[in-house]
This record gives sequence, structure tokens and C-alpha cells, in this order.
Amino acid sequence: MAKHIGILTAGGDSPGLNAALRGVGKAAIGAYGMQVVGFRDGFRGLVENRTMRLDGSTLSGILTVGGTILGTSRDKPHRMPMGGQEMDMTDVIIANYQKHNLDVLVCIGGGGTQKNAYRLMQYGLNVITLPKTIDNDVAMTDVTFGFDTALGIATEAIDRLHSTAHSHHRIIVVEVMGHNAGWLALGAGIAGGADVILIPEIPYDVNVVAESILARYRSGKAFSIVAISEGAMSREDAAAIQEAQQAVKKAEKKGDPDKLAEAQAHLAALETAQLDSTVRLARQLEQLTRLESRVTILGHLQRGGTPSAADRLLATRLGTACADLIAQGVYGVLVAARGDGAEPVPLSEVAGKRKTVPLDHPWIESARRIGTCLGD
Ligand code: F6P
Repeated sequence: MAKHIGILTAGGDSPGLNAALRGVGKAAIGAYGMQVVGFRDGFRGLVENRTMRLDGSTLSGILTVGGTILGTSRDKPHRMPMGGQEMDMTDVIIANYQKHNLDVLVCIGGGGTQKNAYRLMQYGLNVITLPKTIDNDVAMTDVTFGFDTALGIATEAIDRLHSTAHSHHRIIVVEVMGHNAGWLALGAGIAGGADVILIPEIPYDVNVVAESILARYRSGKAFSIVAISEGAMSREDAAAIQEAQQAVKKAEKKGDPDKLAEAQAHLAALETAQLDSTVRLARQLEQLTRLESRVTILGHLQRGGTPSAADRLLATRLGTACADLIAQGVYGVLVAARGDGAEPVPLSEVAGKRKTVPLDHPWIESARRIGTCLGD
């Protein structure tokens, strides 16, 4: 009996999603005669039973297209906003999985999607996942698709900012995506020759950053480029947030609702203040160095447009490996990139983990060797 596959894309979109859908779909249909149905807008489409048949015609012409033809959302199966309140829709998902007579659900997404898929697996569904995110922070895979494309876009932006920073003798602080992991800022910062790179893994000292810019100035370089991850924090802010997180945990343990509400409100206020931390940093650097500063926030530009050749290749090889694993009946795994190949990794080893930049990573070592300031 030919297998029936359901497939969805969830979380923030990223270049290479369509290449992955095409890889899974073409191999599943062409090599194994399986039937493939897509669910629209992530887990929400599975709840609302909104589908798209994936066949030779819908899978054609999408390799180079950015975004996802299925649409996506950040909805979680167990906490889905429905008519003004959050509801656990797991039962509805299970019912729709059975209604479509599925043998497996393929979930393509980042860290949140790995967690949601693992949860559905614990409810008895067969699931298999693929790793996508421009942040490159999914655990247990060498790399995620979307990262290479975003790296190229952010690097080109830094290249272009050089000439304007140089002409005006300015500091330009360029904010790169990545709330919890600094892969993109670090990679693009090194590739684009940023003078300062600030990432969430290394809380920075603004005086150290200012001094490195002044040292460049004294050596005749009157401009500087600072590449910063959106989640990078000063030492003081990182310590305050850590303390607030601990206070929330303590209040949870004590079971004191008033203390918990107070601690949560304090943490939320600190996190909100972080939203404009890049602009604040530019202002501080201007005051400390007396050099004019500007801010560029790359934002969602980094997620848009056609995938790079490397991402098309990665998404296609992980997608076809996914179809092979389904044919073998291997479920409950992430199809991880390992060297030139693919390797199934149990979702229990992936869900709830995040791959951040190790402090002794070769990229960090190289950045330091060429004199890049990392803010510490
Ligand atoms: O999930 C990847 C990511 O690109 C993060 O780097 C970024 O913080 C986030 O998505 C923003 O996503 P959205 O604006 O879609 O919520």
C-alpha cells in the first residue's frame, strides 16, 4: 500500500522551504508512489483542515521561489489562539491526521517546530522533521536551510554599508536577525569585515566597544562597522535579565501568585526595553567616541527572496532523504545535515535544545585573530 504523507511548514519563513517541499514531494511520489497532502499555514491548517494537494504540477516551478507555497504561522498545536482565547487543539490535529489516513506528518521548521512535532509524537502520531531557520540554531544538525541565503544578504548589506560609513567617517551599527544565537551576525560580520561583532553568547561592555572604535580612529580609520545580533546584550542588561528570570523561577517554585505576577512583569519590562537596544548602543557609542553614528536594521529582508544555491542543494538533499526514511518507516526523527549526507536524529535529542555559538568556535577564534572586537 502506498503511504500517505501530510506536510506543513511552520515558524518564521525562510529561503529553501519550497525547495524542501519539492524534494520531499518529488521523491515520495516519483520514487515511492506515495500521496502527499500539504497543510496550509503551519499547524493551524492541520487544525482547520485547510489543504493543498502536492503533486507533479503544484511541486513544479517552486525551487527558486522564496517563502513557502503552503504559508506558515507560529501557531502551536497546544496553545492556539481560537476566537480570542488560547486552546489546546491536539485532539483536532489527531482527528484530522486520521481523517486523511496519514502514515506520517512531515514538519518543516525551526526550534519551536521541533518541539511541537515531538509533542505530537508523544500523542502517538508518526512525525518526521526537517531543520529550517535563518538563525541556524536547531540542535543536532550541522546546519539549517535558510541560513546560507540570509548570510549572503547580511554580508552584502555590510559590504554596502562600508562605503557610506567610510565616506561620512561614521559608525554604522547594523542589526542582524538572531534573538538567541549569533551565527548570522558572526558569520556575516566576519565575511563582511565588520570591525565589531556583538552576539547574544558574549555580553558586551560598551566601553570596550567604544575604545576599539577610538583605537581605529587613532590609527587613521575614521569609520567603523558594528554588526550586532538583535539578541545581543550589554553585560549589565544580561545580568539584570538573568536575575529577573531567576526571580520568576523562584516565585513559581514558591507558588505565590502575587510574587509571580510581579516578577513576570519586571522581566517583561526588561525584555521590552531590549527592543531598542541597538539604537541605544549607537547613541552611547556616539557619546563615548564623539563620532557620528547611524543604525541599519536589516530585519525581514534577510528572510525574503530566492534561496542561494547552497540552500537549494541542502533543502533538496534533506527533503529526498526524508522521503527515503519514510519509505523505510523511520519516524520520530529530525533529518539532520551531517557532512555531505543526512542522518536521522531522534526528536527527543533535538526538542527543547538550541545550538548557540560555542565560545571556542573556530569562527570566534578567527574573528579575534584578525582583531575584530567582540565586545568582551
Ligand atoms: O525565527 C527566525 C527569526 O528570523 C529570528 O531571527 C527573528 O527574531 C524572528 O524570526 C522574527 O520573526 P517574526 O517577525 O516573523 O516573528
